[in-house]
Amino acid sequence: MRRGSGFGKVILFGEHFVVHGVPGIVSAIDSTADAEVRRTGKGITIKDRRKGAKCYAEEKKLQQLESIERILEAMEIDPKTVSLNISLGGNLPGFSGLGASAASSVAIARAIAGEFGKDLSDERINEIAYEAEKAYAGTPSGIDNTAATYGGLLWFRKNMEEGPNTIERISIRRPVEIIIGNTGIVANTKEMVAGVATRKKSNPRKYDPLFKNAEDLAFSGRKALEEFDMMQVGTLMNENHRLLQEIGVSCKELDFLVNLARKEGSFGAKVTGGGGGGCMTALTPTKKLQDKVAKAIEDAGFEVLRTKIGVEKI
Ligand code: PMV
Repeated sequence: MRRGSGFGKVILFGEHFVVHGVPGIVSAIDSTADAEVRRTGKGITIKDRRKGAKCYAEEKKLQQLESIERILEAMEIDPKTVSLNISLGGNLPGFSGLGASAASSVAIARAIAGEFGKDLSDERINEIAYEAEKAYAGTPSGIDNTAATYGGLLWFRKNMEEGPNTIERISIRRPVEIIIGNTGIVANTKEMVAGVATRKKSNPRKYDPLFKNAEDLAFSGRKALEEFDMMQVGTLMNENHRLLQEIGVSCKELDFLVNLARKEGSFGAKVTGGGGGGCMTALTPTKKLQDKVAKAIEDAGFEVLRTKIGVEKI
């Protein structure tokens, strides 16, 4: 039996826009999906013990199976002849928007590689997890699997031509508290990504300036993070939320949580991840503010994760 892990993530700037080559900023969070893989039994069996994974697992079962077949194929292992027992756990909840699928793909890829005696670099694991992500996101940018593989706070830009993506580490003065609020709605990232692409194509006059705005925001967001100007980071996150509303990926539950977090004093709040349900995040740069905002969201009946961005060792 072999084990593997992958980090969860929160996108601070640029979800959806990254799919089309706009830069994005992502931070791994200190929660992981963990996989145990055994070569035993008949066919591929998956046991998902992750918190919040029940309805998530139901909705995503077929995508999950396809993603595992993609991992095996990328490793040149025939999915039809293999016998694998996969058990998923870890402290990353199965909420939509936290990169749970990418984190589990990285975890499973690492564990399968171990079980089959393959010594794979992080770069190769990232490529394999990208193939797996296609099962969940259709045409993923690669930002989720990159954060899940490497951890840390990252600048990411998808290469729209041949060649590697741009992946750069961003350093900040100290880790910063955030909250992640879950609408409880399981979102289908593949449909959300496809919807944006269709609308962008049919309405370039509206969408092209929004994409230009998103690009400017990513650069300003990076500068503000590097200068440790958290008020400015929050303001830019609010602006990013407005763009996400404009491209049609927010929903009333997300807007409700975003507004509540702002009312409670968060520096900025936005959708994180694919939207259409799933999660929002709010910048709450002290433990006290983090607790205040988290409590308000919990009191409104929603689940919250208290975590940090920019933790160096993850
Ligand atoms: O909803 P999640 O956690 O799978 O995040 C998806 C992020 C997108 O930008 C919407 C898609 C992508 O591949 O970049």
